[in-house]
Amino acid sequence: MQNKDIITVTSPLMPDLEEFNELLKDIWDRKWITNNGHYHQLLEKALAEYLKVPYVSLFTNGTLPLITALQALRITGEVITTPYSFVATTHALWWNGIKPVFVDIEWATGCMDPNKIEAAITPKTTAIMPVHVYGKPCDVKAIQDIADKYGLKVIYDAAHAFGVEVNGKSILEAGDMSTLSFHATKVYNTLEGGALVMHDAATKKRIDYLKNFGFAGETEVVAPGINSKVDEVRAAYGLLNLKQVDAAIAARQKVANRYREALRDVHGIRFFDDMPGVRHNYSYFPIFINAQEYGMTRDDLYFKMREQGVWGRRYFYPLISTFSTYRGLPSATAENLPVATKIANEVICLPMHHALTNEDLERVLECITSN
Ligand SMILES: Cc1ncc(COP(=O)(O)O)c(C=O)c1O
Repeated sequence: MQNKDIITVTSPLMPDLEEFNELLKDIWDRKWITNNGHYHQLLEKALAEYLKVPYVSLFTNGTLPLITALQALRITGEVITTPYSFVATTHALWWNGIKPVFVDIEWATGCMDPNKIEAAITPKTTAIMPVHVYGKPCDVKAIQDIADKYGLKVIYDAAHAFGVEVNGKSILEAGDMSTLSFHATKVYNTLEGGALVMHDAATKKRIDYLKNFGFAGETEVVAPGINSKVDEVRAAYGLLNLKQVDAAIAARQKVANRYREALRDVHGIRFFDDMPGVRHNYSYFPIFINAQEYGMTRDDLYFKMREQGVWGRRYFYPLISTFSTYRGLPSATAENLPVATKIANEVICLPMHHALTNEDLERVLECITSN
């Protein structure tokens, strides 16, 4: 099979090359290529507006804002988190010397189950780090109620939740801070990139110091910061991509609608429906295979699809809690995480992006329904 016949799980949203060239020319003329340049400032402003949040701080990826948010809030000890995510979520805790405590997820959303949080709290717990997995909003009210009761901070890994709103309000308003990833595989990308979203000017200022080695001016260093400064080329690319992200989300919604229509009555296949009052971004389309009812295991279907050039991905399998760094933790056992274990063993994310054709979709669906 030739590469062009393979339907990949995603395809990057890329700006018009001519428009990008024009901005490149401008960057060449300005000769200010990094360190809070012209396009960097424009993109931070444009993103804050688009995302309906007061402050955004750009980062070079979606991992460093997680690490930096934990630093900024001086989180130590233990943090309650989810095993059903990309591994960077838990790695960010490890890089800060924090012990991850895994709690199970909800069957209905794949997000952290608020009912499991209180039992995991110990005197060492300082924060909760949930993930809006696949861009599905967590139960932010229930999580905040627990955080308030126990005096805990909440940092959301919102890597998948670009543009997601609940009742007209950005999901990024929840908690103390939220992080975004603008990796090439995401709904909105800046090649590599990410951001931290905060609620007040003082925090924005502190985060901006922390992502620039801790510099607060020419000669003063106020903290052991990191380097996560975004260059002008990526910022310009990001500005152009922002203009077309709504159209990309609309195209993704059509894909989701077609998948749902075709798979609704297939025995043994479950998927998520839209949630009332939520503006989804359709960043992923996970399906969950009940092997007994479907008549084939998840892996058998996954490899059959692959043979036919339909490259889904098993996000998020294996669970983070099963990786060698984390599997010795008391909270990492399958008994503690029955729902996450089941979902991780059943999931395939189907191809989902703005450029899928009707023909592509029918090829994907044929693989699944021809069982
Ligand atoms: C949930 C989640 N958190 C964090 C990250 C890390 O983002 P990045 O790859 O931009 O560092 C990703 C994905 O890439 C992710 O899916």
